[in-house]
Amino acid sequence: DWTTGNVIEEQIAAIREQVGDKRAICGLSGGVDSAVAAALVQKAIGSQLTCVYVDHGLMRKGETEQVEKDFVASTGVNLKVVDASERFLNALKGVTDPEEKRKIIGREFIRVFEQAQAEIIADEGPAVEFLVQGTLYPDVVESGGGTGAANIKSHHNVGGLPEDIEFKLIEPLRKLFKDEVRMVGQELGLPEEIVQRQPFPGPGLGIRIVGEVTKERLDLLREADAIAREELTAAGLDRDIWQCPVVLLADVRSVGVQGDGRTYGHPIVLRPVSSEDAMTADWSRLPYDVLSRISTRITNEVKDVNRVVLDVTSKPPGTIEWE
Ligand code: XMP
Repeated sequence: DWTTGNVIEEQIAAIREQVGDKRAICGLSGGVDSAVAAALVQKAIGSQLTCVYVDHGLMRKGETEQVEKDFVASTGVNLKVVDASERFLNALKGVTDPEEKRKIIGREFIRVFEQAQAEIIADEGPAVEFLVQGTLYPDVVESGGGTGAANIKSHHNVGGLPEDIEFKLIEPLRKLFKDEVRMVGQELGLPEEIVQRQPFPGPGLGIRIVGEVTKERLDLLREADAIAREELTAAGLDRDIWQCPVVLLADVRSVGVQGDGRTYGHPIVLRPVSSEDAMTADWSRLPYDVLSRISTRITNEVKDVNRVVLDVTSKPPGTIEWE
């Protein structure tokens, strides 16, 4: 029967058998899924695993530091950090279509891994044949891989893979739901800040800017997102909500007034949701005073944002992310 102990033992045995004396690399995103997948594989094959953290420039504020500090400290894993923000920005230039963004980000991810792999191979250790991914059961289903369901979105760790991928995949969480992954992470001794972290999509802020992704827009959204997270945490609401995407409507402008002047700025959308497994979700009834503080701070502190709106749509018909 299902216990986290059984899942861990089973996966460790399977991973050891699969990998043999070869090596694996794993992309860390800063999220629970990749962290737990990496910790599990690290437990199975130790130093045969190297984690690669791609800073695609689409991360939220403080995220890179969290991976470098918390995760490495708690697992002792080999970590290689690649700064690829320029590359992703260039690849995304002029792109507004959500599916195209997802495919580009997925493709660039793999390319960067291949480069990192080449560098790791160059150190003359055993062959690097495997790529570890924190794919969960809902990702598999929603990308059409599990039950033949229609492809709703190309999750960048499943449907967005390019066809010439060179790695064999290790996906130890493929049969698990999020809450089960958290239990496994806890059992593996990962710190609370990582295990209880709310989900964040692989394509990052790239799919939270409706419109073209630019450095300026990313910086602006990072500020707004950091404020929302800060206030939600301060209000003790982190465990009550599933996640709260903060979205920039970059191609929309509305008129406002601030001080004595007219403004013509962008709206920020708050998308707080409650969910069990992300397959369905309801919009979270957050306290008005918390919403009010977030709105006041964002419009005061973030340049070019003069309006904050609340998304009150359940899933379905809306998805959690806007793209
Ligand atoms: P949607 O928008 O499909 O999101 O309702 C469901 C959950 O999945 C997350 N999400 C992703 N996670 N890669 C990921 O690892 C992706 O490409 C991706 N797209 C969405 C989303 O944040 C939500 O928790």
